[in-house]
Amino acid sequence: MIEVSTERTLPQKPLLITTLPGPRAKELVERDRTVTSPSYTRDYPLVVSRGEGCMLEDVDGNVFLDLTAGIAVTATGHAHPQVVRAIQEQSANLLHMSGTDFYYPQMVELAEKLSDRAPFPQAADGKRARVFFSNSGAESNEGAIKLARYYTKRSGIVAFLGAFHGRTYGAMSLTASKRVQRERFAPLLPGVTHIPYGTHASLDYLEEKLFTTMLPPEEIAAIIVEPIQGEGGYIVPEDGFLARIRNLCDRYGILMIVDEVQSGMGRTGKLFAIAKVANSG
Ligand SMILES: Cc1ncc(COP(=O)(O)O)c(C=O)c1O
Repeated sequence: MIEVSTERTLPQKPLLITTLPGPRAKELVERDRTVTSPSYTRDYPLVVSRGEGCMLEDVDGNVFLDLTAGIAVTATGHAHPQVVRAIQEQSANLLHMSGTDFYYPQMVELAEKLSDRAPFPQAADGKRARVFFSNSGAESNEGAIKLARYYTKRSGIVAFLGAFHGRTYGAMSLTASKRVQRERFAPLLPGVTHIPYGTHASLDYLEEKLFTTMLPPEEIAAIIVEPIQGEGGYIVPEDGFLARIRNLCDRYGILMIVDEVQSGMGRTGKLFAIAKVANSG
């Protein structure tokens, strides 16, 4: 067993000891500018040194309260001792794995846990939810697009204005959040239609106008939706919005892809955000 300290060494409230950015941060930002890609779009010059719980320290010793949990991912806080211990133990034991080629006990165990907790109704034939592990949100969405097209043998995908699904080509084609994310990258994936997010009026438009004129539902492979829209402005959809998408999908044999990259894993009080939002309406 590897010992991991649980002692908190950072102040538990913000502490500014330099003007911002401090001298060390300024120097690093300058060096960064000459050697890293300009496609990293940083909003402000925070140069992070370490994190502990919900506190972050920059390279000049200034301490901040991290109200955004990293980029909405450190739900257990920065450097949670149990998470650190698990990573240390695993890396000391086996650092390289390839789930596409071999089997690992931890992979089976994690898939079982996720399958047990997945918010899907029990299948009539007793089959369980199955898990595909990926490296990032974009890769998950690429996998979901491929799965939906392969399984349904259809090509159309409906996504929402304001959505962010990632920066690879398929995921970017589903994204409609900021112009800069798509500008000058066309042609994107064909067959994607965007409609406004979160309202019944938008689903009326889909059903009454698009389905009857230019988008036969029998040609749609999937509807992809964030249970709470993130980059688009932290929008909780109208009551019944997600349930209505579920019904539409069931009616026309369309797959429902729920992108919980930003809203999920406990952040709404439920492990899966869809379980929280869909049940509130
Ligand atoms: C809803 C949503 N989907 C997908 C992604 C892409 O995830 P990644 O940056 O891990 O590719 C993000 C990233 O912010 C996201 O917010």
